[in-house]
Amino acid sequence: MTSTVGFGIDIGGSGMKAAPVDLSDAGKLLADRYRISTPTPATPDAVAEVVVELVQHFDWAGPVGIALPSVVRSGVVHSAANIDDSWIDVDAKALFSSVLGHEVVVMNDADAAGVAEMSFGAGVGRDGVVMALTFGTGIGSALFVDGHLVPNTELGHLEFRGESFERWAAASAKKREELSWKKWAARVSTYVQTIDALFSPDVLIVGGGASKSADKWVPFIETRPEIVVAEFANSAGIVGAAMASNGS
Ligand code: BGC
Repeated sequence: MTSTVGFGIDIGGSGMKAAPVDLSDAGKLLADRYRISTPTPATPDAVAEVVVELVQHFDWAGPVGIALPSVVRSGVVHSAANIDDSWIDVDAKALFSSVLGHEVVVMNDADAAGVAEMSFGAGVGRDGVVMALTFGTGIGSALFVDGHLVPNTELGHLEFRGESFERWAAASAKKREELSWKKWAARVSTYVQTIDALFSPDVLIVGGGASKSADKWVPFIETRPEIVVAEFANSAGIVGAAMASNGS
């Protein structure tokens, strides 16, 4: 029988967070999530050491799901926008399973967050084309067609004015340039209008760290598709990774 408890780790540009998750009960975290700052530089070995610490903190002995801010295909990392460049071509699944001695599943962080929202949060019951976007250090994207994920879409890296859209419209740009919520929401509007022109989503789920303050910026977004706010905010990546650890 498959266990109904999974364990997820979300590796971000500034923090690495983990928790066991009850997958039979709406993706509820079974303990407060534990956070350790992402090491600098965030090399594969340094990150792997923290992964071990996170797992030991919970005395977890089962399979582990790990979300990374990268394109991940068959466990291998193929991009590194907000983590160290030395991740490129690393077999993350092999690395983490060898340091942990556990079964490991590795996936993109926005895909993990999107899967959590589709299964237990803002995307439940949404068919058609759903685009989940995370606004944090970067912009992550997860595209669903009738509930099926199209992985590794990386739409934060659409080009805008000669650079990545995420450089201009991620939550980190708001902080870096000290933009008001309204000014930043205008940038997000430009971004989601571009997403709409390319993908015509029925629904946009907006998540990531910035969704904790959704009332300050989401009402200012001007775009055609329906917008819903992610329900798991910053825990979505953990929940989606935990689902993957459990084969869900
Ligand atoms: C990365 C994506 C990631 C997103 C959010 C981007 O810079 O390329 O893989 O999903 O940031 O963390």
